[in-house]
Amino acid sequence: MARQEQEEHTKRWCALPEPYPKPMVVQPNLYYAQLLLEDYAGSLSEMTAINQYSYHYLMFVGEYEEIAHLEACIAIIEMYHLELLGETIKLLGVEPKYRTITGNCQTFWDASHVFYGTGLYDRLAADIAAEKLAIKQYRTHQGLISDKYINILLERIIKDEEHHLKLFLHAAARFCPDLFRNIDEEKPGNA
Ligand SMILES: [Fe+2]
Repeated sequence: MARQEQEEHTKRWCALPEPYPKPMVVQPNLYYAQLLLEDYAGSLSEMTAINQYSYHYLMFVGEYEEIAHLEACIAIIEMYHLELLGETIKLLGVEPKYRTITGNCQTFWDASHVFYGTGLYDRLAADIAAEKLAIKQYRTHQGLISDKYINILLERIIKDEEHHLKLFLHAAARFCPDLFRNIDEEKPGNA
């Protein structure tokens, strides 16, 4: 993606106005690629987030316009994360197909990873949980990766996920107070 197009991402209302580092690696590394494939196209991954938020957009549009547009805006940022991770996996020496690799076994991404849900409450709760778990998974992978370039990129992606978590929590506070009351941590303002 061209630098100018990249800058456009930082201007989206649901993104942090901070530049992204260019994907780089110290050297090819299969183990690091395997870790990043989990963030890229595992069960808890950018691929799952894109598809979950896009589906929630479809289900909310026309009924909960504001939340629908939040889902769509965040899905587009997750697509950019997918691209950044894909470029990094390629630099690490692995084809960025939508799958994870464990030993010699490949597991392709599956649409059953998406939490489809039935209404506002369970969908927003799942989106909030997804952002929290994504942050946790990125932090775990940062601890296992000693490539400074990859860790800088993961740090920037984590900042977006923290921002998304805040936006989903704000949406829950406004449109789903029952859900918000049941979330006893990381409320907007505390994060
Ligand atoms: Fe993401």
